[in-house]
Amino acid sequence: MHIELEPVSSNDKHMLYKLTSNIDVMKWVYDSKIWTRAKVMKFIKDCKSNDSLPDNVRDVYSYRISLITPHKRFFCGIVEFKTLDYYKKYKIYDYIKTKLRDTCILTVYILPEYQNKGLLPYIIELIKENIKKHKPAAKYLGFLVMQSNTRMQYTMAKYKIKHIGQAQGYIEINQMYRIPVH
Ligand SMILES: CC(C)(COP(=O)(O)OP(=O)(O)OC[C@H]1O[C@@H](n2cnc3c(N)ncnc32)[C@H](O)[C@@H]1OP(=O)(O)O)[C@@H](O)C(=O)NCCC(=O)NCCS
Repeated sequence: MHIELEPVSSNDKHMLYKLTSNIDVMKWVYDSKIWTRAKVMKFIKDCKSNDSLPDNVRDVYSYRISLITPHKRFFCGIVEFKTLDYYKKYKIYDYIKTKLRDTCILTVYILPEYQNKGLLPYIIELIKENIKKHKPAAKYLGFLVMQSNTRMQYTMAKYKIKHIGQAQGYIEINQMYRIPVH
């Protein structure tokens, strides 16, 4: 049994809806809103169009987290990394542009039934490999964690991921963390 990161496809639409309509998962991501089915379909479309872009103009890399067993590939959640440039259109950019320079920023959301099973460190290692491949100039993998997300703060401390400051996010203060990619 192991984890793989795979392209997001329209076959994932039901599991993606299950994941993104769960407020206990989504309250920790961006604007804390759950997704409609229409938003799920747009996400799948955006993933496909991003997957066709060359690395020099691409800012978003999204993956399906798959738990591989001999007989089945289970959908466990979604992980993305984004370049710092991606955030230019958001207010948070002013707070993060210095501290998160040379950094790709991770967003991860795991289905409740696969949480607390120690998947995150494996996901982080796989994301680092993808950053090395697609954004070889990036030096760090960064995390923006909502102040009230005590679980993710605990997890950052557990995996010794360095706290580097805070930034005003969309909903509340975000704590910033980062680790070297290489
Ligand atoms: C946060 C998240 C990414 C962590 O991934 P994971 O694979 O579940 O993490 P791990 O299993 O490696 O570790 C989770 C730790 O948090 C602990 N934990 C669980 N609930 C907790 C809580 N309410 N407060 C503090 N710690 C908590 C677990 O006990 C575990 O620690 P332990 O192994 O020492 O017991 C995942 O749970 C998740 O997707 N949560 C919902 C969305 C989210 O918060 N995303 C992050 C946005 S920045």
